[in-house]
Amino acid sequence: MIRCSDVRLFSADLDGTLLGNPDSTWRFKLAWEALSPEAKPLLVYNSGRRVENIRRLIAGGTLPAGDYYLGGVGTEVFDVAAGRELDEIHGHLTPGWDVAQVRQITGRLQGIRPQKDEVQSDFKSSWHLDRASPGTLRALERDLARAGLLVKTVYSSERDLDVLPLHATKGGGLEWLCARLRVPLDQVLVTGDTGNDTTMFQLPGVRGILVNNALPELARAIRGCSAFFSHRPFADGVLEGLRHYGVLYTGYRH
Ligand code: GLC
Repeated sequence: MIRCSDVRLFSADLDGTLLGNPDSTWRFKLAWEALSPEAKPLLVYNSGRRVENIRRLIAGGTLPAGDYYLGGVGTEVFDVAAGRELDEIHGHLTPGWDVAQVRQITGRLQGIRPQKDEVQSDFKSSWHLDRASPGTLRALERDLARAGLLVKTVYSSERDLDVLPLHATKGGGLEWLCARLRVPLDQVLVTGDTGNDTTMFQLPGVRGILVNNALPELARAIRGCSAFFSHRPFADGVLEGLRHYGVLYTGYRH
C-alpha cells in the first residue's frame, strides 16, 4: 500500500466545518471510513463544545468515531481507545489560572452575558459579547494580567468570548496532545471556520484547510500561515482540502 500523504494527525473543528450541511457531513463520513488503516491519520475533533457533548454527538453516528476529542476550546481531552479523559492536561492549564477571579473581572464588562452553565467549566469561562472591539478585548486582557492571571482570550463569530488558561486554546490543546503522542507538528493538518480555530493554524509547521464559509476573522488572523483555501463550504470544503494534501486519493497510481 502506498501512503500518499505524510499527514499523521488531522484536527478538525465541528460546527461550521464538518457540521453545517448534513449531506456533505455524510460524504465526509463515507470518505473517511473508506480510508485504509495505513492511510488514515489519527482523527482529532477539536471543538468549543465540551467533551461530553462531542461524545453524545459522535454516538449519534453522523460523524466517524475519532481517536481523540479536544473539547472546551482546548481545555479537555478524551482518549477514545482508552475510554477516558486525559486529566493530565490540567497540570498544563493550572499555572496562573483562577476561574473565580476570571469570572469576576470579565463579568464587569459592559454588555457582557455569561453563556449557559453547561458550557462553563473550571478551565473555561465563556460569555456573549456582541461585536467587541479589539480595544475592549485588549483592556480586558490588561485587567486580567494586572490581577496576576495568565490567560488567553479567544473571540469568535463576533459574539463568543472565551477566557481560558494561557496554554489552553484549540492550538494549545493540540500542541499538548501532539507532544504526548510524539507526532511532529509538520505532520499535522487542521481545519476550521471561525476565530477560535486561529491558534490551530498558527502552530509552527502545521498545514491547514480553510473552508469556503470561513469567517473573515479567521482568514485575516491566519495570513502568513500555510493554508489551503477551499472553494467549497463545510465538509465538502474539508474533503477538497484532504484531496489537496493527498490524504484522500484523487486517482489511481499505476
Ligand atoms: C462553542 C462553545 C462556546 C464557545 C464557542 C467559541 O460554541 O459552546 O462556549 O464560546 O464554541 O469558542
